[in-house]
Amino acid sequence: MRRILIVNGPNLNLLGKREPEVYGTDSLDDINDRLIQCAEDLKLQVEFFQSNSEGAIIDFLHKEAGQSHGLIINPGAFTHYSIAIRDAIVGIDIEAIEVHLSNIYSREDFRHKSVIAPVCRGHIVGFGAEGYFMALAHFAETKKED
Ligand code: DQA
Repeated sequence: MRRILIVNGPNLNLLGKREPEVYGTDSLDDINDRLIQCAEDLKLQVEFFQSNSEGAIIDFLHKEAGQSHGLIINPGAFTHYSIAIRDAIVGIDIEAIEVHLSNIYSREDFRHKSVIAPVCRGHIVGFGAEGYFMALAHFAETKKED
């Protein structure tokens, strides 16, 4: 079964409580519970990780990439400046999709740039939690082409 890593960066553990008008009212556990169900239907295995620490995210990617087929990542604020996470994604040679709940292009200027997006297959922004499901659907589709 294809194994997909789903990684969330800083402050995304506060989903549901944090700026609900921007990020919605679902908690990360609510979203992940639905993703488990969806992954089962798509015959994918999912492995979740959330951390507020850049190093912990990089260590997780190094450790898990070898046994995994894809990465869905919402790097949170690291999106905008973490060359270290970008280099980790390049280094582990995995197909990655960047997801953002909000439309980063309709917000403050400092959110308009992603240093991660150029090393991803694509990125999905502005669809709320639905973005994670769109990314999962992509990995289910590419599986059919294997
Ligand atoms: C975010 C967008 C980032 O700019 C912000 O720092 C986040 C959440 C999103 O999902 O919309 O923490 O990644």
